[in-house]
Amino acid sequence: MSTTSDLRQSSNPFLSGNLAPVATETTAFDLNITGTLPQELDGRYLRNGPNPIGDVNPDSYHWFLGSGMVHGIRLRDGKAEWYRNRWVRDRNVANALVEPPTPSDWPATHQQFASNTNVIGHAGRTWALVEGGSPPIEMGYELETVRVSNFAGTLPQAFSAHPKRDPQTGELHVMAYWWGWGNQVQYLVVGVDGKVRRTVDIALPGGPMLHDCAITQKYVLVFDLPCVFNLESAMAGKSFPYQWDANYQARVGLLPRDGVASDITWCPIDSCYIFHPLNAYDAADGTVVLDAIRHPKMFDVELRGPDEGKPTLDRWVLNPKTGTATQERLDDRPQEFPRINESLVGSKNDFGYCAGITNVFNQSDLIKQNLDARTSQIRHDGDHMGYGEPVFISKENATSEDDGWVMALRHNSQTDLSDLVVLDAKDFTGEPVAVVSLPVRVPNGFHGNWVADTEVL
Ligand SMILES: [Fe+2]
Repeated sequence: MSTTSDLRQSSNPFLSGNLAPVATETTAFDLNITGTLPQELDGRYLRNGPNPIGDVNPDSYHWFLGSGMVHGIRLRDGKAEWYRNRWVRDRNVANALVEPPTPSDWPATHQQFASNTNVIGHAGRTWALVEGGSPPIEMGYELETVRVSNFAGTLPQAFSAHPKRDPQTGELHVMAYWWGWGNQVQYLVVGVDGKVRRTVDIALPGGPMLHDCAITQKYVLVFDLPCVFNLESAMAGKSFPYQWDANYQARVGLLPRDGVASDITWCPIDSCYIFHPLNAYDAADGTVVLDAIRHPKMFDVELRGPDEGKPTLDRWVLNPKTGTATQERLDDRPQEFPRINESLVGSKNDFGYCAGITNVFNQSDLIKQNLDARTSQIRHDGDHMGYGEPVFISKENATSEDDGWVMALRHNSQTDLSDLVVLDAKDFTGEPVAVVSLPVRVPNGFHGNWVADTEVL
């Protein structure tokens, strides 16, 4: 066993370097800013990630199962008012911190594990999210854990860390999975009131790790890919029983937005794994374009976290009439965490923003993709600087798709501190608009969002 303080040199790569957890919760006020924070940024940048608490066994630790920790930076009036990092008080964290259990809408026996993957604003509240059957956890404005939620009694069981918000309606479209359902996943729509208004059960040949989804104006995309629940692993007590199955046919399903499972057109694709789409949309000829980060495999040889070959940006064109697909490579650089101007989720976009990564998801450059021109801009701030997921924020009165800011956490391996970088998306490789210095390092994590105060107050 190892404690959080001596993991930096761990034999488990997902516990070492800047993937090692931090040992304390920090609150800091009036952060130093280099440059000028835009006045209209009024809200919080929030990011979730695994941060195992207490004793950790490096031999069995899986990156996806580390306790959730949300990092937040509150911006207002051109100032960075505070930084906070807080563990999400699931059952294990509350026990470890010797705190009372978090109030829960679910029975005491309901599955609950690390809520470590994303943090979003929706229906006036802040939510820490994870996939695989553990419920959403409501967080307060200052990142205190409020409640383990069932969305006012409307959530049947599992949720996802990757709801897709329809920019036209504000509703969340979600693909959920849970091993207890067997070979079935569930599509959910969550209204702007925070209540599930529609569910569709979808039977599949196996139980895939269904991390994310994509929507177009007409369809919801179902990623039925060859990383599936493995009963032998589960019986052997493996902490994360999803593994690569070379015999499982990879395919993407096109579910009409108002359809049921029998309406899905399945399009087989060459074997791969997709955690994250960049975007999807309906083309004029009736086909569906999907841009996504493609991994050659997942959890085949490396079972402690995702590291099965270079993740690239690829495009699939799916034909709902023929159930066929074509594929091409858009960018061969290793990258992940793709984001866009989210007013274009489900519609054609020209730009994307990705984090360049090296092995075992170590952070490096930031990439702006111009999908029409098929060009990329690479932001390299030195070999000691590594960027996490970029988030795009439109300016008020924006006049073009990339008229806004790109915000991302950056770790400096020389100082072992992190900062929040705000870039002008149109001047991607230029001097940052502002850099907010943090008093601590933020471990490499998963997903974050800009949550404007207008969304939650
Ligand atoms: Fe993700």
